[in-house]
This record gives sequence, C-alpha cells and structure tokens, in this order.
Amino acid sequence: MIRSVVRGNGAALPRRIMKNADFEGMVETSDEWIVQRTGIRQRHVAADDETTASLGEAAARAALDSAGMTSADIDLIILATSTPNNTFPATAVEIQNQLGMHHGFAFDMQAVCSGFVYAVATADLYIRGGLAKRVLVIGSETFSRILDWNDRSTCVLFGDGAGALVLEAEGGAGAITDRGVLAASLRSDGVHKDKLFVDGGPSTTGTVGHLRMEGREVFKHAVGMITDVIEATFGEAGITAEDLDWFVPHQANKRIIDASAKKLGIAEQKVVVTVDLHGNTSAASVPLALSVAVADGRIKKGDLVLLEAMGGGFTWGAVLLRW
Ligand code: ACO
Repeated sequence: MIRSVVRGNGAALPRRIMKNADFEGMVETSDEWIVQRTGIRQRHVAADDETTASLGEAAARAALDSAGMTSADIDLIILATSTPNNTFPATAVEIQNQLGMHHGFAFDMQAVCSGFVYAVATADLYIRGGLAKRVLVIGSETFSRILDWNDRSTCVLFGDGAGALVLEAEGGAGAITDRGVLAASLRSDGVHKDKLFVDGGPSTTGTVGHLRMEGREVFKHAVGMITDVIEATFGEAGITAEDLDWFVPHQANKRIIDASAKKLGIAEQKVVVTVDLHGNTSAASVPLALSVAVADGRIKKGDLVLLEAMGGGFTWGAVLLRW
C-alpha cells in the first residue's frame, strides 16, 4: 500500500519575541499568572513585513531544503491557517507563487488550531488516492493580527509562526512498522462555535474581527475530546500509549497537555512541550513543536509520533505517523 512518508520539515518565527513581562504595562496581568495558568513564557509577534504568507514561505523553504527538494518536486500545497493574508485568494496560492511553483495546485484549510492535523490527514488521502506524490503541508498563523490587545484573557495566550512538512508517496507493507502516516481521526462539533470564535467576517460584519474565547469552557471540554480522539486513533492502529516514542500535542496550555498525557498513560518524558517558547500559534503549533524536537535530536527516523490538536469549532483530531 501507499504511505505518506515525511521527507523534511521546517519552521519560521517572527523576529520579535514578546516576554510575559512585556504585557505588564498593557493589561492587568503578571508573568506569574501567565506561567501558572498556561506554561507560556514568551511568544513571537509578527512585524508589519511578516505575514502568514511570508512565514509560511520561509517554513516551506526550510522543509524543502531538509528534504533535499525544490518546489519543482511538489504537486500540492495545503496551508492550514485561520489568519490568511487576504479573504481570497488562498494564501497557499500566494506561497505557491513565491516558491516559483506554477504547476500542481494549492489550497488553504481552515480548522483553527486543528488545522495542521486536518491538513496532514488530508494530504495523506491525496497521496494514497494517487492525486499527488509530494505534498507540502504548512501551518502558518499571525494571530497577533486578530487579538484584542486590551483583553487580558486572550491576548497573553497566542503567538505567530509557521511550520511545514514534506510528505512523499512510498510503498509500505501495510504494517505498523511502515514509515509514514499510519492512522488519523478527525472530529468537529459546531454546537460549540460560540465558545471560541472571531467576531467578524466577510459575510457578516465585513470586518476581520477579534478572537473571543470562553477559556474556562474550552478548558472543560479539551481533555475529554483530545483523549477520546487519540484513543480512537490508537484503536485504528492497534497500538497503546506504551508503543509511542513521542507525543506532539497542540500547544495551547501546559495544564491541558499534562492532563491529557496523564489520562492516556503517556510518560512525561515522551511529551514535546514548546508552549513556553511559542505560546499558542494555532495551526502552526504542532509543526513548530515537531521542528524543535527534530532539531534537538529527540525525534529520529523510525520513531512512532502522535500529533494531536483541538481548537475553535470545536474541531479536534489526531494523526499517528512513523517518522
Ligand atoms: N492575567 C491575570 N488574570 C487573568 C488573566 C490574565 N492574563 N486572564 C484572566 N484572568 C483572570 C480572570 O478574569 C479570572 O478572574 P476572576 O476570578 O476575578 O473572574 C481569573 O483570572 C480566572 O480566570 P479563568 O478563565 O477561570 O482562568 P483559567 O484557570 O481557566 O485559565 C485559560 C484561563 C488559560 C484561558 C484557560 O481557561 C485555558 O487555557 N483555556 C483553554 C484555551 C485553549 O485550549 N484553547 C484551545 C484552542 S485555541 C484555538 O483554537 C484558536
């Protein structure tokens, strides 16, 4: 059977780092509150010349370099984002053009923080369906542009950045020992749409709007939803938590990550945590965390890696792959 195997990965972050202490003169908050409640210590914030497209392009170039490929080798770009450069065209098409790629096709995928997990699962279907051989999957966000910087309950939580993977079709035995994407489970339920949303849009207000979140409500649902979809993924693959080498969760809140890992029986030393460095970068958070754990030598070829995310919608999902 055909498998979608990771050939390379990359990341890009805005130049400016904003520490928790930098909020102290802006809203009533403290480094202590932010660290205790979330685990976040700093985030990167995009300058005017840094956009979802430019960060996504930089991450894509890094992923192509690490794969030893150029854009000429790619047939499809999927960009997971909720902060596109424009309402249309898709920012993926802009990145395609910036990479000098004038063949194949490109589109955006919008599942908020679950966007990258959705995009990897979708890329895998294109590859296994024979519609693409090499896919660039990017998660890129500039949430700083949709934050209400006067709302302390949200502005301290998010950051900007991008990460990317190159996936390529390769023959596999259909066994759990194959490299590539091995299982995926995706979910959404719009009954929760008002708990985490942006209060603007082209068809309603005609404005971009700002992020609004009932944090406590999101928190309440997060661990149950995350563990549920991961257990479904384990079931599909016929594995248990003990078989995993690495758990790379969405980086929203250290308490959610810890509680999910504990409930699933995933050992602490297998959990990749970067929320302290990047904050919540929505669809970029999983590929950014991957890039850190690959760069420091933790994730190696042949390792069994579980990706997970949950976000606005709600959307949630998990992907199991062998690196
Ligand atoms: N600094 C100081 N105090 C604050 C701040 C702040 N930055 N923000 C809120 N507070 C106050 C609140 O006003 C509240 O005060 P009160 O008790 O007087 O009313 C108090 O702190 C406690 O607020 P809670 O909201 O109950 O705090 P909680 O412990 O729930 O932590 C948090 C808040 C961090 C937002 C948490 O609920 C959370 O992480 N929620 C989930 C977020 C998430 O996972 N999102 C997922 C995906 S994001 C996406 O898809 C785009």
